[in-house]
Amino acid sequence: MKKSKHIGRSVFLLIATIAISSANAENSESNLATLYLAKACAGCHGVDGRTPTTPYYPIIAGQNEAYIYNQLRDFKDGSRSNSMSTVMTGIMSAVSEQEIRFISAWLSKQ
Ligand code: HEC
Repeated sequence: MKKSKHIGRSVFLLIATIAISSANAENSESNLATLYLAKACAGCHGVDGRTPTTPYYPIIAGQNEAYIYNQLRDFKDGSRSNSMSTVMTGIMSAVSEQEIRFISAWLSKQ
């Protein structure tokens, strides 16, 4: 009984360590770029956020962080809704609140 408690605590500490180190890693420039790529944003907005693949997709790099954050949140909860936003709403269902913060900060600095 005692032994399993000990193992339980070790597993908890291991998971906590991994969670902390991955949170730090997510803040690095290359990991933020990877997050943007992993969420398929580049397929429409370009790898740098400023070379959209069609004229109907906006340039999003260099925009104010707070503005980007609000737009992404509004797409996600459906409050920004128009003929072109449906695709963004779908994409944002797979992007968490924390990831929205990371991506907004990264895009504003591109
Ligand atoms: C399939 C194409 C597609 C993908 C993939 C995509 N977007 Fe978009 N994005 C659009 C379109 C189209 C709009 C314009 C929507 C509108 O008119 O409301 C848009 C709008 C935006 C805007 C608002 C720009 C503004 O000026 O208001 C932001 C920010 C944005 N996208 C970020 C992202 C991020 C971050 C991802 C990845 C998580 C992503 N997009 C993935 C097509 C896409």
